[in-house]
Amino acid sequence: MLELQHISYHVSGPEGQTDILKDVSLTVPDHKLVVFTGPNGGGKTTLAKVIMGLVQPTEGRILFNGQDITGLSVTERARLGISYGFQQPPRFKGLTVHDLLLLAAGEQKLSKDRCCQFLTKVGLCANDYLDREVDVSLSGGEVKRIEIATILARNSQLMIFDEPEAGIDLWSFARLTETFEQIHRQHSATMIIISHQERIIQLADEVIVVAGGAPVHRGSVEEIMPLILGNTAGSCPMLGKEENR
Ligand SMILES: Nc1ncnc2c1ncn2[C@@H]1O[C@H](COP(=O)(O)OP(=O)(O)OP(=O)(O)O)[C@@H](O)[C@H]1O
Ligand SMILES: [Mg+2]
Repeated sequence: MLELQHISYHVSGPEGQTDILKDVSLTVPDHKLVVFTGPNGGGKTTLAKVIMGLVQPTEGRILFNGQDITGLSVTERARLGISYGFQQPPRFKGLTVHDLLLLAAGEQKLSKDRCCQFLTKVGLCANDYLDREVDVSLSGGEVKRIEIATILARNSQLMIFDEPEAGIDLWSFARLTETFEQIHRQHSATMIIISHQERIIQLADEVIVVAGGAPVHRGSVEEIMPLILGNTAGSCPMLGKEENR
């Protein structure tokens, strides 16, 4: 189980302090699929990075299976079974897709068949991609899918996917959604998926709407979807005026 207790994250700039996360407390029980959604800039990615250890919170504690992991590094958290797929994945010049899958699986050898299984789950054909370098020659959608495949290969207890749908074509997206459904059905991992996609939101046991640096709504898909679909008015008063003209 993952528990965030009173997490805040502030940054200081020339114009003073900005509160990016504000006293966030939430629990993600084992084997659940929780979707974080909400407006751009709401704090979803920062929250995911705080869980992975890429951002150190200013206040609060994070517990994973009862252990306080607030002070642990990314590597230590990865060893405990947490993995995170970036919203914009990095590229790794000099490493092939095969290398990345081996590193992720933590195995010296990963058969072509196993690699193929992971790549198929994200809609890629192993024959075309295994020996490709993960450099700028790959398209954005390809890099995104390869990163998701490495997270699947890592077989973590808690998988965090940051907008897995971003830049992915409809066919691969359908395959990916099936993969999430399957992981969920088989209870093989706990998943936090950050998403704006209705199709992914529909998979959730719980949907948490993050806005202004904190969860503002949480509940079942049935409870939250009407709130999301009904709330089309932006938060910018100027935009509101434009619309009213
Ligand atoms: N280090 C930082 N310094 C200043 N502002 C930051 C920093 N990190 C994040 N922010 C700001 O915090 C807010 C939340 O960012 P975050 O990336 O978490 O949003 P998000 O909910 O993931 O948005 P999106 O849906 O666009 O991906 C944004 O306004 C962002 O500009
Ligand atoms: Mg984000």
